[in-house]
Amino acid sequence: MKKILLTGGNGFFCTRFALRYKNTYEILSASSSMLDITNEENVTEIFESFKPDYVIHAAAKASTEFCDKNPELAYKINVTGALNVAKACKKSNSKMIFLSTEQVFNGNVDAGPYTEDDTPSPDTMYGKNKLEAEGLLKEVLDELWVVRFTWLLGMPERNCSMSPNILWGTLTDIMLGKKTKATPNEYRGLTYVHEVIDQFPMIFEIPYGIYHLGSHNDLSRYDICSLIFKEVGLEHRMNELLEKETEKYKDHHRDVRLCTDKIKSYGLEFSDSKDGIKKCLKEFKIKL
Ligand SMILES: NC(=O)c1ccc[n+]([C@@H]2O[C@H](COP(=O)([O-])OP(=O)(O)OC[C@H]3O[C@@H](n4cnc5c(N)ncnc54)[C@H](OP(=O)(O)O)[C@@H]3O)[C@@H](O)[C@H]2O)c1
Repeated sequence: MKKILLTGGNGFFCTRFALRYKNTYEILSASSSMLDITNEENVTEIFESFKPDYVIHAAAKASTEFCDKNPELAYKINVTGALNVAKACKKSNSKMIFLSTEQVFNGNVDAGPYTEDDTPSPDTMYGKNKLEAEGLLKEVLDELWVVRFTWLLGMPERNCSMSPNILWGTLTDIMLGKKTKATPNEYRGLTYVHEVIDQFPMIFEIPYGIYHLGSHNDLSRYDICSLIFKEVGLEHRMNELLEKETEKYKDHHRDVRLCTDKIKSYGLEFSDSKDGIKKCLKEFKIKL
């Protein structure tokens, strides 16, 4: 059995990945208390005892707001921590998959979808950290996949963590009777997390390099929220519970969509975001 080390093992992606593949791989899903990636000695110890074939480096501070407010800590975790993991991969001959983000394009002026050949120009600390880490990791490791995710979505699951996502966020607002605010001026790829997890091992078979991964989406954030209301049978409550934020990004639409043709050419397939959301609601049998 191949061995996989998951950093950030207690997070949204890794808790689901570890459950899905517990009988396929020998997995060490390392929470931050077991493996603090900012502590080089701790990283070395874990690598020496587990000797992973693959490392999925998911550990990060992924909140844009947190990173902007705490730039030094964000850098320490998102850049220096990633570098510690890459150096350990190099020493132990482990192959590394670095989970990066569409947010490396959040300051680009031209609209997406962006390809892997477009030059990212991030304007948040989180986007800047991830881009810098991508570059530093490439200097350390040849056996490296950098996978830039679109925004993932999913539902709460047993023994799994949650992170903010548009589907669960909208449903939570509905259940709390709180108005959801959504702009018609923002476009992002939104991907059902299990579509990513189900196909993830295919990445181990493709050439090293940078890949954009996830669903394409033609709908604005407002249209996606409207779709969620309709799909759960609450179209009649949209006037009361969904507010169109027309002013936000009015002068310059925000568009951080990724072109995922490169990874699709290696056989990974994704529903478009609308169908991914419908699939998730169907799998979790959600009707309100
Ligand atoms: N979810 C998305 O939509 C999305 C989109 C694009 C890219 N990504 C990237 O994909 C990866 C996984 O995302 P996710 O949603 O699963 O994130 P998540 O739920 O926030 O998980 C990240 C994990 O990293 C851990 N961590 C933080 N500091 C650490 C440290 N010093 N040492 C070790 N672990 C540490 C956190 O542990 P604590 O809870 O103990 O702090 C947390 O469990 C991240 O790198 C993120 O940037 C995610």
